[in-house]
Amino acid sequence: MATVIINGQELELDDDERLNGIQAAARLGYDIPHYCWHPGLSVVASCRMCLVETGRRDPESGEISMMPKLVPGCQTPATDGTVFVTESDKVKQARAQVEEGLLINHPIDCPICDKAGECRLQDYYFEHGQGSRRADLRPFTSRRRSLGDTVTLFVDRCVMCSRCVRFTREITGTGELYVEGRGAGEEIDVFPGFPLANKMAGNVVDLCPVGALGDKDFLYSQRVWFMKSHDGVCAGCSTGCSITIDENQDRVYRLRPRENPHINEWWMCDEGRYGYHHVHSEHRLAGPQQFDAEARQYVNADWSRLPTELDKKFTAIAKRWPGSVAGVLSPHLSVEEAYLLAKYLRGVDPEATLVLGPVPVEGEDESFPQGFTIRAEKCPNRRGVEAVLEYFTGRVATFDDLLPDVAAGKLHAIWVSGGYRNDWIDEATAESFDAADLLVVQDLFDSPLMQRAHYQLPAAAFAERDGSYVNVADRLQSFRWAIRPPMGVRTEGSLLWQMSAMPGMYRAGEVLAEIAREIGYFSAAVEEIPAVGVDLKVNLLV
Ligand code: SF4
Ligand code: SF4
Ligand code: FES
Repeated sequence: MATVIINGQELELDDDERLNGIQAAARLGYDIPHYCWHPGLSVVASCRMCLVETGRRDPESGEISMMPKLVPGCQTPATDGTVFVTESDKVKQARAQVEEGLLINHPIDCPICDKAGECRLQDYYFEHGQGSRRADLRPFTSRRRSLGDTVTLFVDRCVMCSRCVRFTREITGTGELYVEGRGAGEEIDVFPGFPLANKMAGNVVDLCPVGALGDKDFLYSQRVWFMKSHDGVCAGCSTGCSITIDENQDRVYRLRPRENPHINEWWMCDEGRYGYHHVHSEHRLAGPQQFDAEARQYVNADWSRLPTELDKKFTAIAKRWPGSVAGVLSPHLSVEEAYLLAKYLRGVDPEATLVLGPVPVEGEDESFPQGFTIRAEKCPNRRGVEAVLEYFTGRVATFDDLLPDVAAGKLHAIWVSGGYRNDWIDEATAESFDAADLLVVQDLFDSPLMQRAHYQLPAAAFAERDGSYVNVADRLQSFRWAIRPPMGVRTEGSLLWQMSAMPGMYRAGEVLAEIAREIGYFSAAVEEIPAVGVDLKVNLLV
């Protein structure tokens, strides 16, 4: 056990904890301002914003001796007997001087800067800077240059913290960024012919403490104070990165990584970051439709009548042909939705066939030097849906296993859940479903299968639903909806909740509690799920 003294208060640290001054002070609620330090990158101690007084307490006499000069808190380890003083006049004066020095070289273009409202330079100046600016040494330019397809550099806004450079060297190992020039002439740049093009490039925008790096996807689309932020989970692949969804009035404008030491640390990939545009696609299905056999065309269906109507039809078919009901559980469904669908179908037909929907796979897993992995499996919840299937059927049958029975006309009523962003079924496969008497398809977009459905139901996108996903490493994360679905769309969870005759509004938490009680694999999810999720393996004998 180590004891660190911060502003006269003692902080106990476990023997295996390795903290610097910034981290130790944060434990006691002292925020030491910093630009260049980031917990996921190496320490360079170049910005000097984190200067603090430090010293040591003699273990025998208890006497404290302080060092004469200020030291960077980011580079000073918090060991047994270390003393930090973070709020003295000397420290405050140093912070103000660093701020003043940075602002001499920084344009005051906050009104047109995307970072305004979440900029460290802006925030620290109000908190730690001097009230007025004493010098204007040179005119500012609005020099801006593209670093790659996704990132723009606003040259004069850079405070040369080098976070972006270290990211491309240490995390992606691609090293596209470097510091050009020296001293007051330093600038961030890319090597000629080698743009910033790695698959995690967008993280440099999050890392940049000021508005020097702009995300072309987000640039000038929103002022940050108009947006609301919601915790979410990326549905782009089975890594299941923790994310923050920034939205305004039911429109997603930005996805950012949310720190999770168990999954993605501080990062996310660009595929996930920019993988939200389909949510607002004009091609999404807009309202439920049912096929009118007499008129031989689709007509609008009524959400308020659909649960009862569908229930009657599934029940009638199950009575007439027991064992002829089937459900395709998409790996895009949440655990709760998959469970409700399986439970409902097994409720009307105890012999109902349940299979896992097609699992989209693109290429191979791609890992970066620091360990971050983009998975080839482009869906968020295969593991969760598999566990539900194992519980209800004792095995995991696949979509391909289902097709022979579909083509042979053995299955009379089939419910297919989708949620796929890309084409997932071809004409020939879809044709085999023509034999079904009742085909319900719930999906985001039109497809050859949707064109054969007796009921076409629009599905919710990842940012619109409540529930939980289980990632490839068996970690379950729960999330709430960030935006409401477009008019005419109803989430799978709320529809299945009503079809299961559950009272009131859909409550994913109640469904998960039932799942945790019923299915051993999910037993670790019985308590409230923390923001970083829960490891389902802890309760398993593996
Ligand atoms: S562009 Fe941003 S992250 Fe990169 S060195 Fe400049 S201030 Fe730091
Ligand atoms: S690695 Fe996968 S889960 Fe993480 S951000 Fe990328 S697509 Fe999303
Ligand atoms: S954060 Fe410590 S010197 Fe920059």
